[in-house]
Parts: sequence; C-alpha cells; structure tokens
Amino acid sequence: MRKIESISSGRVSKNKENIISLLKNKNKSLPTKYLYDDLGSKLFEEICDTEEYYLTRTEKEIIDQYSMDIIDTSCAQEIFELGSGSSKKTKRLILNALENNDNVTYFSFDISAKALKMSYNQLRKISNKLHIRLIKGDFNNDLNILSSSKKNRLYMFLGSTIGNFDDIQAKKFLSDISNIMKENDSFLLGVDRVKDEKIIKMAYNDKKGITGKFNKNILNVVNKEYKLNFNENNFAHNAKYNVQKSQIEMYLEAITQQSIILPNKESLDINIGDKILTEISRKFSEKTLKMLFNKSALVPIKCYTDKKNYFSLYLLKAKKYF
Ligand code: SAH
Ligand code: TRP
Repeated sequence: MRKIESISSGRVSKNKENIISLLKNKNKSLPTKYLYDDLGSKLFEEICDTEEYYLTRTEKEIIDQYSMDIIDTSCAQEIFELGSGSSKKTKRLILNALENNDNVTYFSFDISAKALKMSYNQLRKISNKLHIRLIKGDFNNDLNILSSSKKNRLYMFLGSTIGNFDDIQAKKFLSDISNIMKENDSFLLGVDRVKDEKIIKMAYNDKKGITGKFNKNILNVVNKEYKLNFNENNFAHNAKYNVQKSQIEMYLEAITQQSIILPNKESLDINIGDKILTEISRKFSEKTLKMLFNKSALVPIKCYTDKKNYFSLYLLKAKKYF
C-alpha cells in the first residue's frame, strides 16, 4: 500500500479572543495556545524529559503496558491524535494496531507546525504500512472540519491536555468529540490525578528552569501576533497549586513597573507583582471525571492506571450508542 503524507492547513481559525480585554481585566490572562510556537513546542519536549515532570513517563508506561488491550478493545483501524505534539508516546499503540490490520492511518492534529514536523519524523520510521496524515488546526474551533471515515477510529487526547481547559471548555471539547464519534469509534483520554501537592508543584517548577522559559516564551509569541512590546526579562515564572480547585495556575509575574502598548494604541500600566495567567493544569479525582464524562455524553469503558495512581487513561465510548 502507498504511504500517504499530507499537511492540511489554512483552516486554523482567526483569533477570536480579545487580547485587549484579556490584558486590561483585573485578572489578566493570555490564550494558552500561544505557548506553542516552534520554540514553545521544542521547550515542551524538554519539559517532558525533566526529572520532575512525571506525567509523560507515567503515561508512556501505562500505554506500553496496556497497548494491546487498548487496540483490541477499540478494534482501531485508524488512530486520530489531537494535540499530538511529537507523538512520542504513540509508537506501541501503532505497532499493535498494525499487528491486527494490514494498514493503519494515523492522523496527527496540532496547532503547531513544529509539533507536526516532529510527529512526522517519529512516525515515518515505524513502518511503511502506516499512512500518516498531518492536520494543522485548533481543537477548540476546528473539530467540525474533521472528515469522518467508515473505519473504526480511536481518537486520542493525551498528556492531560484536557486539564488545561476550565470546566466549560472541557465539557465543550469532550462533547464535540462525543458528537463526531460513530458507533465503532473509541476515545482514549489521558488525565493527571490529584496527588501529593509537593510532587505536582515540582513538575511545574523544574530545577533547570525549562518550564519558566516555556512560560515566558508566550510573551514573544503574542508580541509577534499582536505587535506588542512585552519584554520577557521583566517577568518571573510563577506556578502555584490551588488546592481548592486542584489545579496548577501558571502565571507570569511582573518584576518591574512597565507599560504595554495595546493594539488600540492605549497604554497599559503593569505594576510590580501584577500577574498574567498563562495556563491552568487541572488534576482530576474520580468524582470530577465522572461528572465531566456524564455532562459530555461519554461513557468510560476501561480505566488504565499506574501503580502509584498518578495518572490514568480512560477508554470512552459515545453515550448515544448505549
Ligand atoms: N500530546 C502530547 C503533547 C501535549 S502538549 C503529549 O502528551 O506529550 C499540548 C499539545 O497541544 C501541543 O503539541 C500543542 O501544540 C497542542 N495545542 C495546544 N493548543 C492547541 C489548540 N488550540 N489546537 C490544537 N493543538 C493545540
Ligand atoms: N498538558 C500539560 C500539563 O498540564 C501542559 C504543560 C506541561 C504545561 N508543562 C507545562 C503547561 C508548563 C504550562 C506550563 O501538564
């Protein structure tokens, strides 16, 4: 069979967020997706390799252990990974899917061209029976462009990226997936669990300071996107764990007094100690997940967890077929 490689793009939605109101708000924030330009995607890979960031290693361990069961349960002929990054964790699943099928198509969907490139470089070595499709898109706005297929598709959303959405965004995203799923489709979702606060905090405050670099890089990306004048040296990385909400909150905290010229030419004063929220990372309990799946019309079929109960992978089906 011929191997297909393609990059579909140009469908990434126009910026819908209003950067001016996000920055003028008392609780300042920036849209998370701007963390992932070429440099951001490279730095994220480095975060995954740090000693403190247990998420990637743990999730990979679970996938490697239960891969055959995931493939057998889902009967996957196609694997569709959303926010795939470098697709490093997916190799075993693809190999197992290829054991059951003569050819398998893997779709890599990501907003970052660099991530898609890294993904392609990982996957092309696996097997010439693997068809690879690269799709550049925004999973918060572009899921409606996904073409469906007659084959059994396994959707995947790994890395606890679901934790980077608030409850409303998470429900919308999961409902979108549940809506596009057909009867024989499955959905594998990776979630980070509530655990000892110290372990969580360390994962977002690595000793080498890579997470700090990753966080500050968002300023260079929005500078380019909106012609702003942020200087990353005027900010410090600040990742706190909010126990009530079970979430990491990643801020950039101003360390000097400064003025930012907004796209409407207004000048915005930022004072020492002012904080800009760049990302949340929620940690889930059984109860919050149960509610979230229920609200999103998804039914868990299986749950795979590591020995320490740090991280889980849920295999889900769309409720409409029950
Ligand atoms: N799944 C990988 C990467 C997780 S990091 C892993 O588990 O290691 C989150 C990934 O989602 C990045 O590759 C980033 O580029 C992508 N991403 C972030 N926002 C996105 C958006 N709005 N639409 C599509 N992809 C997005
Ligand atoms: N999905 C990842 C997580 O929540 C994204 C991530 C890892 C991240 N490290 C980060 C986001 C540091 C912001 C800052 O763990």
